[in-house]
Amino acid sequence: MNEAFANDVRGPQGAVDIAGRGTAYVQVRGLVRTFGSGATAVTALHGIDLEVWAGEFVAVKGRSGSGKTTLLNILGGLDRADGGTVFVDGHEVTAMSDADVLRMRRERVAYVFQGFGLLPILTARENVGVPLRLKKVAPAERERRVVEVLERVGLGAHLNQTPAELSGGQQQRVGLARALVADPGLLLADEPTGQLDSGTAREIMQLIAELVRDIGMTAIVTTHDPVLLSVADRVIEIADGRIVGGFEEPGI
Ligand SMILES: Nc1ncnc2c1ncn2[C@@H]1O[C@H](COP(=O)(O)OP(=O)(O)OP(=O)(O)O)[C@@H](O)[C@H]1O
Ligand SMILES: [Mg+2]
Repeated sequence: MNEAFANDVRGPQGAVDIAGRGTAYVQVRGLVRTFGSGATAVTALHGIDLEVWAGEFVAVKGRSGSGKTTLLNILGGLDRADGGTVFVDGHEVTAMSDADVLRMRRERVAYVFQGFGLLPILTARENVGVPLRLKKVAPAERERRVVEVLERVGLGAHLNQTPAELSGGQQQRVGLARALVADPGLLLADEPTGQLDSGTAREIMQLIAELVRDIGMTAIVTTHDPVLLSVADRVIEIADGRIVGGFEEPGI
């Protein structure tokens, strides 16, 4: 997981946290994102500072338009910042070339989308195999890992069904399996239960919490769902592009 990037820059967060929580897996400093320019410019993030510790499960809440998706997209390398720095696992995402960002997305960051993001013509097993194909994992090993992770999310009996043949909750289980199969250090999920009924949403949230704890990943999940807010280690609140709640205490 940790091979060096061509553009590797070690951040100050490599230091051990003073309160003994380990190292910051994600460190954000002064993050600014502005869409458009001139009179119509919209500043979605106004200078976000944030630390998420290795193994921590953080939920991000905030009203519609507060900047949650924008923040997650920049952390995951799906969008670029206009100012500030982001380090993930010691690598400065904000200084990476496009090729290094792609590599980071392939090797250490997994994304779960509200709309599941599955390829409709592929079966569950083929969808989950995509990240391993990109990593050029050999077919036999790929098959073993795909089946193992699909069984882990409770879909062992649905390997060969396409998304249209699965319920919403099952589709999101496939989305989770695909996110986990390449063994990422960081899981980012943007309202992963936004399209599910409340019972199914609860099951998916509890599954995410369980997986994060079992695997020891770091996870950042945006949600309005009280169930997820209650299972997260910490809840951060964003309002108008600023963090207004859930800061770390100084620790001493
Ligand atoms: N590509 C874009 N172009 C222009 N403005 C954008 C773009 N993406 C986001 N914005 C604006 O940035 C602000 C933050 O949007 P963002 O999608 O991050 O909010 P959100 O907190 O995820 O909202 P929701 O809960 O509805 O998903 C909003 O004012 C939005 O209109
Ligand atoms: Mg959003």
